[in-house]
Amino acid sequence: MEIDLSRYHNSLSRKHQLIRMLWAIVWNVFARPLPRSIGSGWKRFLLRAFGAKIHSTAIVYSSTKVYYPANLEMDIHACLASGVNCYNVAPIKIGANTTVSQGAYLCTASHDITNPLHPLITAPIIIEDQAWIAADAFVGMGVTIGQGAVVGARAAVFKNVEPWTVVGGNPAKFIKKRIIEN
Ligand SMILES: CC(C)(COP(=O)(O)OP(=O)(O)OC[C@H]1O[C@@H](n2cnc3c(N)ncnc32)[C@H](O)[C@@H]1OP(=O)(O)O)[C@@H](O)C(=O)NCCC(=O)NCCS
Repeated sequence: MEIDLSRYHNSLSRKHQLIRMLWAIVWNVFARPLPRSIGSGWKRFLLRAFGAKIHSTAIVYSSTKVYYPANLEMDIHACLASGVNCYNVAPIKIGANTTVSQGAYLCTASHDITNPLHPLITAPIIIEDQAWIAADAFVGMGVTIGQGAVVGARAAVFKNVEPWTVVGGNPAKFIKKRIIEN
């Protein structure tokens, strides 16, 4: 059997595609020109208008790309920093006091590479409270990042990360336990 993408079918509904197009226009016109985290309240308003569940202390930088706001949940003091790609075809949940740093990629979708029609497959990403996803890290579909875990810069994570551990590399491996000193 050969891969034949002429028969590829976009499984996302017309309504979903329309909302996404409208959202892209709204964010690019009304939020993206603002510098960095300026106008956080306004950005939360826009995200909520498209269905996001965002705590009033959460921050989304202007250069963050949110694919589908209705699939975004952010808890108290959660932050999506500059250049983060929040590809939430399936839900993404960002826990309290959790930061996703510059250029990180949260990717809830892939394709079934065993199927000649290459269909889209999706699964949620959950990032629990007090975690840190460092710069340029990749977090794949279906992954849960445990409470307090740190995903090091440029790590590529395809499996769940245990709470209060530090992981790094591609594929990400355990580096050490995260110990908080008082
Ligand atoms: C993960 C991180 C927080 C660990 O910091 P740390 O506790 O000071 O750890 P260390 O520097 O002592 O490193 C411990 C070991 O992990 C390795 N390591 C550290 N970060 C790594 C990473 N991102 N990927 C792979 N390995 C890493 C180190 O090389 C070292 O290996 P060794 O024991 O063989 O010498 C840090 O390295 C990191 O990635 N910071 C993110 C920076 C960033 O994103 N900045 C932008 C936002 S402000």
